Amino acid sequence: MSLSSDRISGKVCVVTGAAKSIGFAIAEKYAEQGAKVVLIDIDPLVEESAKTLADKGYIAKGYVLNITNRDAVLKCFADIEATYGDIYALVNNAGVVDTRPFEENDEAILDKMFKVNVYGTTYCIQGALPSMKRIKMGKIINFASKSGKTGSALMAPYSAAKGAVIVLTQALAFEVAKDNINVNAVCPGITDATGVWSSVSKGYVENMKMERDAIVKKFTEKVPLGRLTDIQDVVEFVFFLTVSADYCTGQAFNITGGREMH
Ligand SMILES: NC(=O)c1ccc[n+]([C@@H]2O[C@H](COP(=O)([O-])OP(=O)(O)OC[C@H]3O[C@@H](n4cnc5c(N)ncnc54)[C@H](O)[C@@H]3O)[C@@H](O)[C@H]2O)c1
Repeated sequence: MSLSSDRISGKVCVVTGAAKSIGFAIAEKYAEQGAKVVLIDIDPLVEESAKTLADKGYIAKGYVLNITNRDAVLKCFADIEATYGDIYALVNNAGVVDTRPFEENDEAILDKMFKVNVYGTTYCIQGALPSMKRIKMGKIINFASKSGKTGSALMAPYSAAKGAVIVLTQALAFEVAKDNINVNAVCPGITDATGVWSSVSKGYVENMKMERDAIVKKFTEKVPLGRLTDIQDVVEFVFFLTVSADYCTGQAFNITGGREMH
């Protein structure tokens, strides 16, 4: 089912990690619903991605930005405000994953997992909060993961970082509830046709010495609803959190076909 709402028509919605995959699909949904969409990504492809939306007549702009650089993030958000006005929604979708045996996680890997997934999310929220506090409303949607609820083998630093995103979400929800800002997290399961799953499945092939098809079968069998997560499953849930769900804050919602239940 595809949801529809005029609630974000004309409003500024920012999506990070939006050059492709889940992030781009969310930006596209927002654009179709009349929002002014800002796509952020470290990958220069984001400009082309924004152009494909603008070419369809939507209001869309791409920013090439490394979200781990706090000064650059704050400058970018100030520019977004100056160009389009106050920000209503922020989707912290940008994230990176890594797959390797626990003993091999050195400082560089830990830094990368926390700097993008946790620090970057924090900086983008800091960039968007002045707008949201000014207009006394806002929706912040952070990307955690099923691995942030129950850690995944071979992905300890990623799991720890996504767990941190969940408690960051709770702490911030308490802090900004008085400003009428909802802060929630989503926890997708393995989502097909995405960068993260491509990287994770490659890591599993190397570390578990199994063929990719066997790995897909093994993980699909663990999902009660019998299939991997589809990008649209995530898009529709994020959209619901953006245009409705006004009485939900500080939550971490599983989008896992029942694979994760707490
Ligand atoms: N795909 C899955 O199976 C899955 C499952 C659970 C959670 N997630 C989470 O969902 C989100 C999206 O996943 P995806 O598979 O679509 O990812 P993806 O790898 O396809 O896309 C992520 C985007 O983030 C961007 N990015 C990375 N580092 C950045 C930085 N420093 N600054 C700005 N942009 C940066 C990348 O360039 C990329 O375009 C991630 O946070 C991921 O951890 C994904």
